[in-house]
Amino acid sequence: MKKLNLRSIPTGAYLVIFAVLALLTVGMLLLLQNINTHQAEARQTSFRVANLTEDVVDPAVWGQNFPIQYDSYKRTVDIARTRFGGSEAIQKVADDTNLKIIFNGNPFAVDYREERGHAYMLIDQRETERVKQFKQPGACLHCHASALPAYYAKGVEAGVPAADRVAAIQKGFEVINPMPYADATKLVEHPITCNDCHDPATMQLRITRPGFLAGIDALAKSKDPVPHLPSVERWRAAGAKGTYNPNTEASRQEMRSFVCAQCHVEYYFKGDAKLVVFPWQNGLKMDQIEAYYDTIAFKDFVHKDTGANILKAQHPEFETWSQGVHAQSGVACADCHMPYQRVGASKVSDHQVRSPMLNINNACDTCHNVGEQAIKDRVQVIQDRTSTLMKRAETALVALIQDIGKAKAAGATDAQLAKAQDMHRKAQWRFDFVAAENSMGFHAPGETNRILAEAIDYARQGQIELQKAVGVKAGVEAPPNAVKP
Ligand code: HEC
Ligand code: HEC
Ligand code: HEC
Ligand code: HEC
Ligand code: HEC
Repeated sequence: MKKLNLRSIPTGAYLVIFAVLALLTVGMLLLLQNINTHQAEARQTSFRVANLTEDVVDPAVWGQNFPIQYDSYKRTVDIARTRFGGSEAIQKVADDTNLKIIFNGNPFAVDYREERGHAYMLIDQRETERVKQFKQPGACLHCHASALPAYYAKGVEAGVPAADRVAAIQKGFEVINPMPYADATKLVEHPITCNDCHDPATMQLRITRPGFLAGIDALAKSKDPVPHLPSVERWRAAGAKGTYNPNTEASRQEMRSFVCAQCHVEYYFKGDAKLVVFPWQNGLKMDQIEAYYDTIAFKDFVHKDTGANILKAQHPEFETWSQGVHAQSGVACADCHMPYQRVGASKVSDHQVRSPMLNINNACDTCHNVGEQAIKDRVQVIQDRTSTLMKRAETALVALIQDIGKAKAAGATDAQLAKAQDMHRKAQWRFDFVAAENSMGFHAPGETNRILAEAIDYARQGQIELQKAVGVKAGVEAPPNAVKP
C-alpha cells in the first residue's frame, strides 16, 4: 500500500480542504446563532418588526412586536361582573340613594359609577357628568390617558431643552394641570398604553407619572415603616440622600406594584396650579393621610346639609394593599391582576388587567393550591364581612348627617355644631376610604374593618356631641335607619 505522501498532495487540494472546513465552521456558527435566536424569541415572544421609540404611542404598533401582550391588553374592553367588582359601569348613586346624601355638595352625588376596564378610562372621564356639569382641570388626565407625549411637547414648548426628557415631562405636566379639562383632553388620544409602563428601548417596567415620583419620594422621607418596600427601607438606611427614584432604586417585584400605584391611589389637586399630589408625607395609612390633610386644612367640599369640611377619598388601592398580608409577603398587584399565562411554549403576563375573581386559576392557584371554589369561598367571607360592616357605617354616617342637618335647620349656631361637624369629617373620611377602595376589603381585611369600626364610632360620637350642644329637643332623634342587629 502506497504511503500517503503529504508533499505529493497538490496545494489546490489543501485549499479545497481548508475551504470546506471553513464553510463547515461558518455553518455551525450560523446554526448556533439560529438556535439562540429561536430561544430568545421563545423567551420574549417578540418579533422586532416595528422600531419602538418614545414617540410611538399607538399600542397597535407595539403589538406588531408583542402580539400576545397586545391581544390580552385589548381584552380590557370585556364587561364581565363579579359580586362586588368586575367591569360594568353601574351607577352607584342610583343603586344606593344614601350616597346622594353622603356626597351632597360634591359632583359625586351626581354621577358615581363602578369602574371598568382600562380600555374605557379616557372615554369614561370625558363622558362623566362630573366633567360635563362641573369645571375640571387638565390634572384629571394624569391617570386617564397616555399623556406622556402631551406632557413632553408642552414642556419643550415652555422652553425645556428637548434632550432633557424627564424635565420636559415634569414641566409639561405643570403646564397641563391647570388647563380647562376640555382643552387639555384634546392633547391626548389614547387610554393607558404600553409606554406608560414600559421603556420602549428595553421593555423594562418604568414609572412615568410625576405624581407618583413625588409621592413615593415624600413617603421615603417620612418615618412610616414600609417593610413591604425593601428598596425604600434600604434607601433610608443609606442616609436618605437626594431623591428616592423608583426607576433606579426599586426591585423588579416592587415595580410590579409601583406601575399600578401611579394611578390607583388617593390624591388631591394642590392649589390653583392643580398639582396632582399623593398625600404620603406622613405615611400610607388612612390616619396618616388624614393628619396630612388636617395640617394643611384641606377640604374637597363643604357638605350641603351639615356645613362640614369633607374629604373625598379616591381609590386607595395601593395604600390599602400596603396594609395587608399579601404586600407583607411580597405579593405584587401584577401577581394577581396580571398573572402569567401559558401561551404555546412561553409564559407571558396577562395584560387583560381585571378582577382576579374572573381568573382564579392563574391569579391565585399558583400560590394557594386549594381549588377554585375554596378560593371563592374565602374571598366571599372577607367581602361579605366588609360589606355588612360598611352598610352599618353608611347608616351611622347618614344618621349623623341628618341630625346635624335638622339641628342646623332649627337654628343651631356654627359654634354649637363645630364638634359634630368635625366628627362628620372623620366618620365620612373613614367610610369613604373603604367605599372608594375597590376590593371590598380583600386587599387588607383587618385594616379595612378597623377603619369601618372607627367610622361607626365617630358617627355615633358626632350624634352625642350634637345632643350635648343643642339638646335632643332641637330636632335630634334616634337614627332613622339603623341596621337591625
Ligand atoms: C393577592 C391578590 C391581589 C393583590 C396582590 C392585589 N389585588 Fe387587587 N383585587 C384582588 C381581589 C381578589 C379583588 C376583588 C375582585 C372582585 O371583587 O371581583 C381585587 C380588586 C381590585 C380592584 C377592583 C377590581 C374590580 O373588578 O372592581 C382594583 C382596581 C385592584 N384590585 C387594584 C389593585 C392594585 C392597584 C393592587 C396593588 C397595589 C392590587 N389590586 C393588589 C386581589 C389582589
Ligand atoms: C391619581 C390618579 C387619578 C386622577 C388624578 C383622576 N383619576 Fe379618575 N380614576 C382613577 C382610577 C384608578 C379609577 C378607577 C378606580 C375607581 O373608579 O375607583 C378612576 C375612575 C374614574 C371614573 C370612573 C368611575 C367613576 O368614578 O364614575 C371617572 C368617571 C373618573 N375617574 C373621572 C375622573 C375625573 C373627572 C378626574 C379629575 C377630577 C379624575 N378622574 C382624576 C385615577 C385617577
Ligand atoms: C394611568 C393610570 C392607571 C394605571 C397605571 C393603572 N390603572 Fe388600573 N385603572 C385606571 C382607571 C382610570 C380605571 C377605571 C377605568 C374606567 O372605569 O373607565 C382602572 C381600572 C382598573 C381595574 C378595574 C377593571 C375592571 O374590569 O373593572 C383594575 C382591576 C385595575 N385598574 C388594576 C390595575 C393594575 C393591577 C395596574 C398595574 C398593573 C393598573 N390598574 C394600572 C387607571 C390606571
Ligand atoms: C399598567 C402597566 C402596563 C401596561 C400599560 C403594559 N404593560 Fe406590559 N407588562 C407589565 C407588567 C407589570 C409586566 C411584567 C413585567 C415583569 O415582571 O418584569 C409586563 C410585561 C410585559 C412584557 C414582558 C413579557 C411578559 O409578558 O411578561 C412585554 C413584552 C410586554 N409587557 C408588552 C406590553 C405591550 C406590547 C403593551 C401595550 C400593548 C404593554 N405591555 C402594556 C405592565 C404593563
Ligand atoms: C405569589 C403568591 C400568592 C398569590 C398569587 C396569592 N396569594 Fe394569597 N397569600 C399568599 C401568602 C404568602 C399569604 C400569607 C399567609 C400564608 O402564608 O399563607 C396569603 C394569604 C391569603 C389569604 C389569607 C388572608 C388574610 O388576611 O389572612 C387569603 C384569603 C388569600 N391569600 C387569598 C388569595 C386570593 C383570592 C388570591 C388570588 C386573587 C391570592 N391569595 C393570590 C400568597 C399568594
